[in-house]
Order: sequence, then structure tokens, then C-alpha cells
Amino acid sequence: MRKFLIAGNWKMNGTKASTHQLASELSKLDLPANVNGAIFPAFLHIKDVQNVLVNNDSWQIGAQNCAHQADFGALTGEISANQLRDAGCSLVLVGHSERRIIFGEDDAVLAAKTLAALAANLTPVICVGETSEQRLNGNYQQIINDQLRAIFDVVGIDNFRKVVIAYEPVWAIGTGLVAAAEQAQEVHSAIRKFLETYSESLSVNMQILYGGSLNSTNANELFNMPDINGGLVGGASLSAKEFGSICAIAGEIN
Ligand code: 13P
Repeated sequence: MRKFLIAGNWKMNGTKASTHQLASELSKLDLPANVNGAIFPAFLHIKDVQNVLVNNDSWQIGAQNCAHQADFGALTGEISANQLRDAGCSLVLVGHSERRIIFGEDDAVLAAKTLAALAANLTPVICVGETSEQRLNGNYQQIINDQLRAIFDVVGIDNFRKVVIAYEPVWAIGTGLVAAAEQAQEVHSAIRKFLETYSESLSVNMQILYGGSLNSTNANELFNMPDINGGLVGGASLSAKEFGSICAIAGEIN
């Protein structure tokens, strides 16, 4: 049976001391057998968090962005997928809406970053989702399919079997406006239908996370949906107690 993946995106939060403390608290949690945990600290804190969790198999560490798709080179201020792998990451977020919208990352860049991540043996967590305007216009599924297709077309089916997808409606991120479980399920199911046009096994095996104002009060309903295989948690992952509760809720679902 597929395990839930419960991932915490810490975004640009925390200090060396506070993230060390948070990681120490997480290291003491007993994750349920059907839950894999992952955390995405800021680049600067990856090494320290990794040191805290070094003998703890429950947690994988990821980066919030593959800053540049090149391997190495004269690119002042950038960080490559190879360097992330070398620093102990096993996952990387690609195309978080904050990267797409605030930093203007387009489909071509995101496809290149996905390829770089895969070449460095990182699992890309490809984030997709619509804005509130796109939802109101009713064409949100088309938008999401286009976001996925743009990457699929470049990386190909064998590579796409190695990615994780996170559906994060932009209107639900950091707003407290969580998608209703049925709304999220509708999109997750449509993503599977879209993937089925390429391959049934790709569709069935894809791990699809939900993200956007996910917390311990709405997790149960969301995780009970048949096509939701975990969560990408922002604000609520900054408290070990709250994040631990979300993991425990996933643990109760068969
Ligand atoms: P919130 O859980 O704070 O809404 O953030 C979600 C998110 O963007 C995770 O990547």
C-alpha cells in the first residue's frame, strides 16, 4: 500500500536556533507506519536540520527550490540540484506558486529544473494549482493540466514516473481558505484522468499531495479522499505539535 507523504514547507521562516529546535522536536515524533515525513527548510538551514535528523529514517529533507538548472558554473548566488543532493537533500519542490508568481518562473524553466533534479537523483515535487480568478473562470483543470503537460513533454514518461505532484490552489495558500475535501478530490481525480491519457500505471502510481491551509482540523476529511495521498503543509508545519498531529491523522487512515 502507498504511504502518505506529509511534507512541511517551512518557506522563508525560522532562524538557526528555531529551526534546530523544530527539527529536534520532529526527531522525537513517532511517525505512523503508513506515513513518510519530509521537511523543506530554507537552504541555509538544510545542513543543520540534516545533522539533527541524521540517524532518523522517518524524515527526508528537501529544498524549496532548485535555484538553478545548470550543474555547476559561474552563476553567482545560485544553487544547483547537484549541490542540493550533496548537502543531503532527497527531494526538491519545483514550481511552487510563489516561485511561479513572485519570481516569474515559467514552464520552460520549471521543466529544466525538473530534469536537473532528476539527473541529480532528487525527487521533484511538482506544484500545480490555479488562482482564484482561474477558478472563477471555470477553466482551472485546463490550467493544471497545462502546467503538468509542459513538464511532461520535456522530461518524458519514464522521468515523470519518478515525480510527486502537489496540488496547491493558490487561493488556499496562507489564506485559511482550505479547499473543501470534495473540491480537492475533484482536481486530484482529474489529474489522474489526465495522466491516464499517457499511461494507466503512471496514473495509478502517482503520489498526489494536497496543499493550502492544511491543518489538524481539516486533514482528516482531506486525507480520507481516495485520490489524496498526503499533504504539503506551510504554516502548520512550523509547529512540531501541529505537524505531528497532521501526521498522526494520516496514520489513522487505512
Ligand atoms: P499554507 O499551509 O501556509 O497555506 O501553505 C501551503 C503551501 O504553500 C505549502 O507549500
